[in-house]
Amino acid sequence: MYRVNEDYLKLPGSYLFSTIGKKSRAFKEAHPEADVISLGIGDVTQPLVPAIIKALHEAVDDMSRAETFHGYSPDLGYSWLRETIAKNDYADRGCSISPDEIFISDGAKCDSGNIQELFAADSRIAVCDPVYPVYVDSNVMAGRTGSYDPETGCWSDVIYMPCTEENGFVADLPKERPDLIYLCFPNNPTGVAIKKDQLQKWVDYALENGCVIIYDAAYEAYISEEDVPHSIYECAGAKECAIEIRSFSKNAGFTGVRLGYTVVPKALKCGGASLRDMWARRHGTKYNGAPYMIQRAGEACYTEEGRASIRGLVDYYMENAATIYDGLKGMGYTVYGGVNSPYIWLKTTGGMTSWEFFDYLLKNAGVVGTPGSGFGPNGEGFFRLTAFGTHENTQAALKRIAAL
Ligand code: MLT
Repeated sequence: MYRVNEDYLKLPGSYLFSTIGKKSRAFKEAHPEADVISLGIGDVTQPLVPAIIKALHEAVDDMSRAETFHGYSPDLGYSWLRETIAKNDYADRGCSISPDEIFISDGAKCDSGNIQELFAADSRIAVCDPVYPVYVDSNVMAGRTGSYDPETGCWSDVIYMPCTEENGFVADLPKERPDLIYLCFPNNPTGVAIKKDQLQKWVDYALENGCVIIYDAAYEAYISEEDVPHSIYECAGAKECAIEIRSFSKNAGFTGVRLGYTVVPKALKCGGASLRDMWARRHGTKYNGAPYMIQRAGEACYTEEGRASIRGLVDYYMENAATIYDGLKGMGYTVYGGVNSPYIWLKTTGGMTSWEFFDYLLKNAGVVGTPGSGFGPNGEGFFRLTAFGTHENTQAALKRIAAL
């Protein structure tokens, strides 16, 4: 009899956002009259901007003519997109990243789940707690996390770095030495950003201790404060110790289009092994690239018109963030995030657990959010709301919460 990868069987429950989807659907079935507003998963609601739609149409037309038709994309992605990214996202911010250190993909979620394949099976991972569940779950599937304790919600072989009100939701350096450190800033779920001098400490620690930082910068477009780094490569030495993952989902609204990229610098070496060459080998073997049309849409994000419209999208969602943040604060809630991020992290009230608050809000206000404990034990007692709704729904949700 064949055997399955038993590490999958260790995963408790379903993926966080699948569980939330299931619960919301069950509620809607039981209450067909209810007008449920979803501020749960960080999924965008505004349409693609005209510059992107135009690029998509043109690229579709390209595919209709033999002279401009495109088959398989190059392993790393089209050079015109990688060059545009290297210039706009890095050179213009004073970071030198070459186009052949950039790998185009169909999104940050896949890259952040797959990147662990580059590392030894017995690597120790360190994660912030609370944390985006993909980092932990993908390492569970790879057999790297030991056993799960349902009492504590922790894996025996994972190093958890608590993010609490006391440390401003920016973890302290780990007490035990990990091999891989997952960091996400601006943070999902807490919405908190990291200052450049704070991030430099992580880079210095990784260099001194022989660790790799997997830096998820999917929410970079939401940074509004001056001293917050947009890329980890703004820190000295980061090219020797960090991989950076970026997304087009949250800035350009590509959650349903799918495009992202990962930077693996050539300077990132482990003995004689180049992580950049290993990731290139993986791309060549396991991936056939994001579609030509989608990569053209990605390129359009960097034109003058594309950039201006995307700025408009980000501003739109940040207006929602302010509506939620100020609204909840005015009602007496304790709230965090929302300044450099589309996520608002609030403390539950009345001694409710995160899941009790989820049920309470759904039942009494018809609003779906994300329970903090779904992101890790230190998320217990907290709740996440996303600013990615429409203005109308966001305002309506706040009115309903105020009326509770
Ligand atoms: C979230 O809600 O945390 C994100 O939308 C999930 C994702 O980007 O995969």
